Amino acid sequence: MKLRSTQYAPFLLFALAFASCKTQSTTTTKADAKLSQSQGVYQYRDEDPLVKPFFSDRVGVIGRNGMVASAHPEASQVGLAILKAGGNAVDAAVAVQFALAVVYPGAGNIGGGGFMVYRDNTGKAYTLDYREKAPGNATQNMYLDSLGNVRPGLSISGHLASGVPGSVDGMAEAHKRFGKLTWAQVVQPAVDLAAKGFALTERDALGLNRIKNDLNTINPGKTYFLKSAEPTDTVTWHKGDLLVQTDLARTMQRIKDQGRAGFYEGETARLLAEEMGRGKGLITEEDLKNYHAVWREPIQAKYKSYNVITMPPTSSGGVALLQMMRFTEPFPLRKWGWNRDSTVQVMIEAERRVYADRAKFMGDPDFVKVPVAQLVSPEYLKTRWTDFSWAKATDSRTIKGGMIPGYESLETTHFSIVDKEGNAVSITTTLNGGYGSRVVVGGAGFFMNNEMDDFSVKPGSPNMYGLIGNQANAIAPNKRMLSSMTPTILEKDGKLFMVVGTPGGSTIMTSVYQTILNVIEHGMTMQQAVNALKFHHQWLPDKTTFENGAFSDATIEGLKNRGYILEKLTNTLGRMDCVLIRPDGSYEGASDPRADNTALGY
Ligand code: DON
Repeated sequence: MKLRSTQYAPFLLFALAFASCKTQSTTTTKADAKLSQSQGVYQYRDEDPLVKPFFSDRVGVIGRNGMVASAHPEASQVGLAILKAGGNAVDAAVAVQFALAVVYPGAGNIGGGGFMVYRDNTGKAYTLDYREKAPGNATQNMYLDSLGNVRPGLSISGHLASGVPGSVDGMAEAHKRFGKLTWAQVVQPAVDLAAKGFALTERDALGLNRIKNDLNTINPGKTYFLKSAEPTDTVTWHKGDLLVQTDLARTMQRIKDQGRAGFYEGETARLLAEEMGRGKGLITEEDLKNYHAVWREPIQAKYKSYNVITMPPTSSGGVALLQMMRFTEPFPLRKWGWNRDSTVQVMIEAERRVYADRAKFMGDPDFVKVPVAQLVSPEYLKTRWTDFSWAKATDSRTIKGGMIPGYESLETTHFSIVDKEGNAVSITTTLNGGYGSRVVVGGAGFFMNNEMDDFSVKPGSPNMYGLIGNQANAIAPNKRMLSSMTPTILEKDGKLFMVVGTPGGSTIMTSVYQTILNVIEHGMTMQQAVNALKFHHQWLPDKTTFENGAFSDATIEGLKNRGYILEKLTNTLGRMDCVLIRPDGSYEGASDPRADNTALGY
């Protein structure tokens, strides 16, 4: 789906009119994070360490022949080895997806799903939707009690929370169409990592220790992911401990030997259906057999001299990203400066309107008509901006999804890979919450997703990310739940420019949006754009959360004076893994310093 902004001029004039009458704060204080651009690298003009706008000083990894940026060092190693062995970006992506399922059980998965955006080196773009589906026996009100109230937790943990997994079919489809190495070659590293074990990082150990109670209560009698089988055990995992996953190794071996049938039929399918039986889960062997990933037409749209290639629904991410980019495209963000009050103000107002549209219009395109072209059209976006005021924050209670004529209402992980030939893969994949539903499939050794919570279980009732939805995203048998995942690729002047994405639930789109703008508007390197502190607004609740340090005192004051509610986070936003193609053709791999993310290139 190519969306060219041929009639952009009216909106541009409209925004420029706003820009000229705005009341930008012009005072420069010491705490104003004064930044300047020098040789394409964003630099401080001030040595005050309190105003550093970056989470860390990590620098990007440079390679000429290939780059892999993923959430775990072991998985990035696997991807790099596949590239060096002559595999292409898709081979490496399949190998990384399976490796993450072993070494990053909190989000890497075979029991979940995801989205792939692929651009080959001739410029052809493809997207693969391997999102989970509601089981065939799912019903719209399955999480409500007899009074119509949401039964808390049922869509979040335990057997009923899972959708039918899509990851293995997705990888089989991607490999069948674009892989160069054999299937066995790309699955083998995951078999080895599971069978021989790998040394836990500090973060891996902490994560597994944190879910010990759930492992015991949701999986009685099983010992998966526990350091010791003793229920009273006080033994905890530590950095450097070896995690061997024998049952998972057997599951991976079946996938290696039989391809998709090694998961959706035979032994693995039987074990999964049996597991569902133990906890009143709905997924049947029939559901598994019937699951198929779907190739969808990518969304492609211009932003200045860039072409944005991104994920269509079932993700809301691509539409939302483009809406936000196009809302703020006409404003002189670069001139105003990174995270200055006016820059942040227009971005917040864009985000507010975009998330209201998400709630109203978006759902599985195989079930509901999502008006994608209209939602990102400049004419429509212009109508959404009419109540914007520089003087005062818009009140989210007054914002509803927009009017489209003819429309009837009705812990994730990302990796980016570029190979020697310039083929690029952007994948975001998830179990939804960290370690998904916390159910480990007995005999098969992998976590199941809790993706059912991404449906709107009741109109207007917020999900675990505070997102609200309506009929478009109501539960129905075999329907895919709406996602925020935003794997994206950008071209500049027809050439590959950037591969980008992140986990973060509802904050995914706004983190991707800021990271892209950090590079193309504020002149940051890819790694600086990832390091840069971030903020988020999602319409409801009506507040802007920000990483400590993301806003200078002047920005905070400017925004508060206009009625914005600001909340400093104690945690962080995003786990970006990105690749930028530099002017000399080399690759800059950027991994998020907020966790174990690692970029490796050669
Ligand atoms: O598809 C979605 O939008 C969510 N299931 C993503 C969850 C997520 O990013 C959790 N990670 N932090």
